[in-house]
Amino acid sequence: MSELTMPTTRRRPLDPPEKLTELRQHGALHRMTYADGHQGWLVTGYAAARAVLASPHFSNLTEKQHPPIKAARMNLSDKGKAKLPPGFFLRMDEPEHTRFRKLLTGQFTVRRMKLLEPRIAEIVDARLDAMVAAGGPVDLVQEFALPIPSLVICELLGVPYEDRSSFQQDTKLLASLETEADDALAALGRISAFMYGLIQRKRAQPADDLISGLIETGELNDEELTGVALLLLIAGHETTANMLGLGTYALLTNPDQLAAMRDDPAAVDNGVEELMRYLTIIHLGPIRTALRDVEIEGVTIEAGQTVTLHLPTANRDPSRFAGGDELDLARPAGGHLTFGHGIHQCLGQQLARAEMRIAFPALLRRLPGLRLAVTPEEVPMRSDMSIYGVHRLPVTW
Ligand code: HEM
Repeated sequence: MSELTMPTTRRRPLDPPEKLTELRQHGALHRMTYADGHQGWLVTGYAAARAVLASPHFSNLTEKQHPPIKAARMNLSDKGKAKLPPGFFLRMDEPEHTRFRKLLTGQFTVRRMKLLEPRIAEIVDARLDAMVAAGGPVDLVQEFALPIPSLVICELLGVPYEDRSSFQQDTKLLASLETEADDALAALGRISAFMYGLIQRKRAQPADDLISGLIETGELNDEELTGVALLLLIAGHETTANMLGLGTYALLTNPDQLAAMRDDPAAVDNGVEELMRYLTIIHLGPIRTALRDVEIEGVTIEAGQTVTLHLPTANRDPSRFAGGDELDLARPAGGHLTFGHGIHQCLGQQLARAEMRIAFPALLRRLPGLRLAVTPEEVPMRSDMSIYGVHRLPVTW
């Protein structure tokens, strides 16, 4: 029985748990005891993590997986797992996954993403106007990081303006840690019912949005469409929100990097990639289970064994990113694993990039005096949530 259990304690909030960095120095794959006693694996090396994600011999079905830690405290993804609706294709294997992925790729077109950019800029400006009107200090998570992705998803799916405030209230309830489990499940129920109703309305009155586009393919029934809409909401909301919150914290605590993001438009695109690499907010997975014996870097993972990939440690592997423990917006950061790799690689990555490329410079230019309203040590970190980030970010300007 392995003595290793999943380390989650970080000494420095922006670095992976030290234990994991130490393990990576000794190898890429490590035997690990899971929360239910299962003897599985932990991957800390870049090449090995990429190889697992690229292999067709690993499953992403929830029921095949063992939990690396005892259920993380309530968060959006775990609430979503309670009962996966049909159409939640992140948790499907081939060939079911391929059917949905193809249909969705056809909707995430370059044209649709380009059309969204001016709307993202308007949404960002409106949030900044509201912050300026309210005056500091404010919690940047509540006022900026959470509402932006939520409104962008409304835009993508085609949620009408008049419905947005109730929809946003429910997505906020779902994303908040303070929400009790029953309230969160109730909110999830209302969002599902809302999505179902939206699909009926789009059937009657199609528009130029993703749901109408999916309906037009004629391939999915209403339950599947509801599941797809829910997946997009869950996968695209809290992830981007945590990147905006934690990214701002990282910039505020690295002032020379903040200046580059604010003052040099040529630094923004790569700067966002570097923030994604350095912060790697998905920090307790992806998780996969071997469908047959698979050899990765000379180690045999047996059929039925679960593998947890620690992407933050993999993304700092010196064999791939030299000096990777430093945040350096000028470093070539392409090839990081923050959006995953292989068949499940993030479908919304271009949208997430567009949101960050617009939001970070706009925030820093509009509020050039932006600073933490507490000490960096007082900012509460999401160590036990499946998506890392800051719970709150009190700022003033
Ligand atoms: C910074 C923000 C984001 C991060 C870090 C992120 C990260 C990821 C990762 C790591 C995966 C793969 C999970 C796995 O292999 O098990 C994934 C999948 C996915 N993401 Fe994202 N994501 C982000 C934003 C978004 C957005 C904005 C959307 C949509 C609007 C989105 C939609 C999806 C979907 C639908 C999948 C499942 C793809 C599949 O199974 O084929 N994500 N994301």
